[in-house]
Amino acid sequence: MSSATTRNIKDANQKAATKLYPTRNDIPEGEREKVVAVMNARLAELIDLALVIKQAHWNLKGPQFIAVHEMLDGFRSGIDAHVDEVAERLVQLGGTALGTVQLVSQNTSLASYPADIHRIEDHLKALADHYAGVGATVRKSIDEVEGYGDADSSDLLTGVSRTLDSNLWFIEAHMQEGA
Ligand SMILES: [Fe+2]
Repeated sequence: MSSATTRNIKDANQKAATKLYPTRNDIPEGEREKVVAVMNARLAELIDLALVIKQAHWNLKGPQFIAVHEMLDGFRSGIDAHVDEVAERLVQLGGTALGTVQLVSQNTSLASYPADIHRIEDHLKALADHYAGVGATVRKSIDEVEGYGDADSSDLLTGVSRTLDSNLWFIEAHMQEGA
């Protein structure tokens, strides 16, 4: 791809990130704009998380393989449903969902997931770190969007947060010994 084409795509993406479509939704435009930015940031992290769950699902090796392998497929389905909810909510507010792999890579706040690990405990630890990262930003955003007058996005993110906490519990329970 020529550098001019790359630049044009970058400019178009920049516009897409900030442009707001008109809507009859009565949340004021300025507030909708802030909620869209928050939701796109959470969208990038949730897509990142969805991808690394499969990275772990495929590459795990060890005695608990089948239990963890199957557990992660359930986690992926749950996160995919939330990805869809978050993306569609921000489009309802007039925004554009930024879900391409290039934009997700630019916008995610999470550290890169290691591709050179295979032991189950290493994947569980890396996944727990990833979940904790998304969990913290989602929890913060629950109050943030409420402050912008969007109780619906706040409620939606509360549901996401519940799933993240529950998945993290399952992961951590695999790494802990009962007393
Ligand atoms: Fe599979």
